[in-house]
Amino acid sequence: MAQKLFLLPGDGIGTEIMKEVEKVIAWLNSQGETDFSFDSGLVGGCAYDAHGEAISEEDMQKALAADAVIFGAVGGPKWDKVPYEKRPEAGLLRLRKDLKLFANLRPAICYPALADASSLKRELIEGLDILIVRELTGGVYFGEPKTITDLGNGQKRAIDTQVYETYEIDRIVRVAMDLARTRKNKVHSADKKNVMKSGVLWDEVAQAVAKDYPDVEFHHILADNAAMQLVRNPKQFDVMVTDNLFGDILSDAAAMLTGSLGMLPSASLGAPDAVTGKRKALYEPVHGSAPDIAGTGVANPIAMLASFAMALRYSFNLVALADRLEAAISSVLADGLRTGDIAQDNRKTVGTEEMGAAILKK
Ligand code: NAI
Ligand code: MG
Repeated sequence: MAQKLFLLPGDGIGTEIMKEVEKVIAWLNSQGETDFSFDSGLVGGCAYDAHGEAISEEDMQKALAADAVIFGAVGGPKWDKVPYEKRPEAGLLRLRKDLKLFANLRPAICYPALADASSLKRELIEGLDILIVRELTGGVYFGEPKTITDLGNGQKRAIDTQVYETYEIDRIVRVAMDLARTRKNKVHSADKKNVMKSGVLWDEVAQAVAKDYPDVEFHHILADNAAMQLVRNPKQFDVMVTDNLFGDILSDAAAMLTGSLGMLPSASLGAPDAVTGKRKALYEPVHGSAPDIAGTGVANPIAMLASFAMALRYSFNLVALADRLEAAISSVLADGLRTGDIAQDNRKTVGTEEMGAAILKK
C-alpha cells in the first residue's frame, strides 16, 4: 500500500525548497524505491489568504490521515497585521497540537566539507553526529499560572510555571532511549535537579526508564554543564534528552556548532497509535520563510532535504535510503557546491534548483 505524505510548503522560500523534495519523491517512486502517494495543502499566510485561517479544516484532516507531514516554513511581513489567532505560525502550532507532537528531534551533524567554516576547531567537530531530543508540549512554556500582575507601586510581577508529570517525562525519555539503540547506545539526560523540583522528578523518572534499557549507557548531566560540554567537547554526546526550555536553548546551540540555518533539519514525533503502533510525525527545516531572499531562487534546500531524509528514517524505516540521501548531501558539499548562505571565500554559488539537482543526481 502506498505510504501517504502530506506536503505543506507554506510561505516564502518554503515553496521553493519543497519543490526539490517533490523531485526526490518523484524520482524515488519512478525507480520503484518507494511507493509514496503525496498530496499538498496550504499552511500559514497563503492559507490565510485562501481560507481566512492559517490552516483549513480539510488540510488539517489530511495531515492527521498522513503517515508523515513534510512542512516548509510559514510567515512574512505581508501577514504582520493578521489577527493573532490567525497568524501564519498558528498553522504550525495547530499541527503540533492536533498531531500531539511531543518529541522534537534536532540533529547536529558535521559535514566534513564545512568543518572549517565552524567557529570551533576542526578536531572538535569533525565526525560530530549528535541528536538532541527536546520535550515539546510541556514545561514552562505552557504551565499555569502564567501571568503578569501589576503590583500598583510601579512594579509588576511575572510568573511562568514549570510543570511536568511522570508520563510526560517517561515517554520522552523512551523516545531518546529507542533512538539511541539505532545509534551509539548512549543517552545524556539534562535537567537542573540541583535547584528545580521538576528536575528532581525528571531525573527520577529518567533513571527508572533507563533500567528498562540495560544496553543503553545512561548519564545524568546538569543542563548548564551540558551547555559548557557541548562547546568544549561535543563529540562526547550521542543522544541528549531534555525538557522544553533547556531543549530549546541546547538544540540551537548544538546545531550552530556546525551548521548554518539553511542546513538544519528537524523532526517532531507524536505518540504511537494504539492500533497500528505508527507515530504521527512532522518534518521541517529549522529556519523560517526567509522573506529577504524569497522569490530569488537562492535559498539553500539542504535543511528541507535533510528533513525529508529524517522522514525516510523515522516514519518509514527506510534507513538505507536516508543514509544515501544524507551521503548525497555530504558529497555535493565535498564537491564544493555552495548556496550563498554557506559560501566561503567568495566561491561561486549555486541556486536552489541547481543544488537540489546536484543532490538528486548523486
Ligand atoms: P528565517 O529563518 O526565515 O531567516 C533568517 C535569516 O537566515 C535570513 O537572512 C534568511 O535569508 C536566512 N535563511 C533562512 N533559511 C535559509 C535558507 N534555507 N537558505 C538561505 N538562507 C536562509 O528567520 P526570520 O527572518 O527571523 O523570520 C522570517 C519569517 O519566518 C517570519 O515571519 C518568522 O515568523 C517566520 N519563521 C517561521 C518558522 C517556521 O515556519 N517554522 C521558523 C522561524 C521563523
Ligand atoms: Mg529556539
